[in-house]
Amino acid sequence: MKIVIPAAGAGKRLYPHTYTKPKPMVFVAGKPIIGHILDKAIDLKPEEVVIVVGYMKERLIDYVNENYRRKFRRISYVTQEQQLGLGHSIYVAREAVGDSPAMIALGDMIFKGGYKEFAELHRCNGQCSGSIGVKEIDNPRHYGIVFTDYQGRVKKLVEKPKRSSSRLGIAGVYFIEDSPGLFRALEQVIESHTNGEIQLTDALQKAVENGADYHTFEVNSWYDCGRPESLLEVNRLLLSEQKPSRKRIDHSIVIEPVSIGKNVTIENSIVGPNVSISDGSTIRSSIVEDSIVGLHSEIRHMMLRSSLVGDGVVLSGKSNTLNIGDSSTIEF
Ligand code: G1P
Repeated sequence: MKIVIPAAGAGKRLYPHTYTKPKPMVFVAGKPIIGHILDKAIDLKPEEVVIVVGYMKERLIDYVNENYRRKFRRISYVTQEQQLGLGHSIYVAREAVGDSPAMIALGDMIFKGGYKEFAELHRCNGQCSGSIGVKEIDNPRHYGIVFTDYQGRVKKLVEKPKRSSSRLGIAGVYFIEDSPGLFRALEQVIESHTNGEIQLTDALQKAVENGADYHTFEVNSWYDCGRPESLLEVNRLLLSEQKPSRKRIDHSIVIEPVSIGKNVTIENSIVGPNVSISDGSTIRSSIVEDSIVGLHSEIRHMMLRSSLVGDGVVLSGKSNTLNIGDSSTIEF
């Protein structure tokens, strides 16, 4: 089996962080999002990992080559020159995938646990053209929606409908046994396409019309790294899965779980819980809780909570000097 990771998009929902890096390179719990996705894919022992790159691809390719080349049999990159949508990004990987079965894992979705458990759920579906990971959702207009029959077979798929009687949202992990069938359907969708993004969901629907037999499996917890509000939630989840860092830092208090990178200086501060600090950053005389701090940033005299701080940031607060008489009440 091969793994396809579409990671070409500009990640507009994560601006300003994605002005300077592609979305899969945004840091969370001590490493870029793509690092966590690859960590969770190692156990599947894929024949090849195909990463579809585009926006600011050099940074992503350098990181993956440096950190994961030896952990997989083969990693290859395919460039999506124009960002025409998720369906198109899978289509550009058609030669790299060939006839092999493929697991498609969206580059911004993190799941609790690894993909191995999903592969097992797919296997339990028996012989079929593929299985689609789904989760009950409240807001169908944010997701691809799947309709199934009483045997759990996929009857229909619709991308982000305004209203829907089904609440089965596509979770961003797909096992495709009949890859040529999906690529044929993608080609049909691309040929008849007139406007908007080329959607993978539309190609899956086309494949169903062509006779594909897709099933679903349930994904319990997913975390969408594509939205700032959920990035801190992902940070908390991944930190809770890691071994405690057991960092002891003089004159400071570290409250686990935390991830503290290399060459990080912490002085006279309280750091944690749920804090990730990337390599080369400095925290002085500050309290930092439930936050992500990027590479080579400096934070002084600050109280930070639920914050995302990029790379190379200098954040310096003020400490107050007061002379307050008895029985005063002062609130800042
Ligand atoms: C994509 C898919 C959608 C799926 C979602 C999961 O949408 O098109 O079907 O439900 O991922 O996150 P996007 O989030 O890229 O808009």
